[in-house]
Amino acid sequence: MTSPVIRIVAAGELAEGGAATFVFRDANGLLRDGFVVRFRGVIHAYLNCCPHQPLSLDYGDGDFFTREGDLLLCRNHGALFEPETGQCVAGPCYGASLRVLPVHEEDGWICFDASVCPPQPDLE
Ligand code: FES
Repeated sequence: MTSPVIRIVAAGELAEGGAATFVFRDANGLLRDGFVVRFRGVIHAYLNCCPHQPLSLDYGDGDFFTREGDLLLCRNHGALFEPETGQCVAGPCYGASLRVLPVHEEDGWICFDASVCPPQPDLE
């Protein structure tokens, strides 16, 4: 049986203001995209799906932060999200939130454990 734990990136390679993406299979067996960022020293991970429309925030290039580096940006229609909470603070989905994904550090890696991840919403 395959371990549900995914090693996303070595913790030392995720710099402040950096991001890394990963793919996981949710409780319904569907492939989902996630991303992890380091902001003010803390790791945060979210489903890479905008609350406005079921689209990835980035253009597949792993670029999630604004130029100022203080907020996460959906590049489709400009929604802005707090990196610490995933809450939208401006844009078409104001007040909605990105889906938080559970990540942890283990043996120097930032890991995602699908076995503790709640089912993800139907994105269709
Ligand atoms: S899809 Fe993200 S702001 Fe529209």
